[in-house]
Amino acid sequence: MFTEYLGILGKPHTFIALGKGGVGKTTTAIALALELSRIGRTLLASFDPAKHLLKYLELPEAGRIHSRNPFHAYQFDLEQATGKLLKELRGNLESLAPSLKVLNAESVLKAARYTPGLEEDAIIRELSRLYGLTDYDYLVVDMPPTGLAIRVLMLPELYTSWLDGLIDVRSRILSLKYTIGRVRGIRQEVSDPVLNRLIELRNMYSGLYTNLKNPERTSFIIVANPEPLPLYEMKEITRALAESLDARPRLLVMNKVVNGMVRQAEYLEALRDYCEIPFPHACIPLLEKPPSTIRDVEALCEKVYDCCRVYGYSHQAGAPVLKD
Ligand SMILES: Nc1ncnc2c1ncn2[C@@H]1O[C@H](COP(=O)(O)OP(=O)(O)OP(=O)(O)O)[C@@H](O)[C@H]1O
Ligand SMILES: [Mg+2]
Repeated sequence: MFTEYLGILGKPHTFIALGKGGVGKTTTAIALALELSRIGRTLLASFDPAKHLLKYLELPEAGRIHSRNPFHAYQFDLEQATGKLLKELRGNLESLAPSLKVLNAESVLKAARYTPGLEEDAIIRELSRLYGLTDYDYLVVDMPPTGLAIRVLMLPELYTSWLDGLIDVRSRILSLKYTIGRVRGIRQEVSDPVLNRLIELRNMYSGLYTNLKNPERTSFIIVANPEPLPLYEMKEITRALAESLDARPRLLVMNKVVNGMVRQAEYLEALRDYCEIPFPHACIPLLEKPPSTIRDVEALCEKVYDCCRVYGYSHQAGAPVLKD
């Protein structure tokens, strides 16, 4: 049971599963959603670009929330979301900056399509929307692999300060415009749609940043396998969380642990290394048959244990321990 390792949780609360590609983020997220749905209304949202959740849970389509007893599930559609973002940009260009038509709005849009950060922004906006849903006590977020996920977590703060700068520039332009207009006796609109949109965006990014930073509202769960690369990424994510959000992982999950029998030095070293990372640990054994249905994951929940204790490796003082 994962929830034993998580301690007491307030509501609403969001869990964000992070880790290298293929380690078991989606599987862990489903397991967590299953358990949380026993104590509250739960939404599982996957941002995995490969959309594996659709197959795992037999969801009919991406982009919509589906009821998948005992929780609700949602597969984000990256292509659809970036398309929507570009459409919004087109609308903004046409309504807020009509003069750009002269400069060829099409080429601006074409450039935007390939601009770094577009995918991250689409995910950030969706994440922000999901945080705003009031129908759920628990939100479990299955993140894309490490690189993209870390950028998604770092950018809200950066965008907030960037927008603060833009709001400042826009405010000064408007103040100058009003002063000149008043002198010339021209009637002027008090509300400025560009400034309003900038403020709206700034509030969205800063709201998400505040939620991500708040341990009462958000917990990070990092998944790895007992191999050097996934473990390296686990440490990198831990570092990135501390640097960009001043956050600590709530739980480290070591998935696909081979029980007892494997005694190769490299394997044991990876496991020891994992156990020495000073955050609570939980482990999932390697199953003979890879889980592929919700029932498989239900069975897997029963097998969660504390491999650090089993192997007798050092353990963070005060970390939750497995109940006997
Ligand atoms: N404990 C386990 N034992 C055996 N197989 C497992 C275990 N956990 C997950 N798997 C299998 O490993 C594969 C990857 O798992 P999963 O899709 O959960 O990883 P992921 O981190 O979400 O991958 P991606 O980065 O591609 O989204 C799947 O085929 C899954 O069934
Ligand atoms: Mg996945």
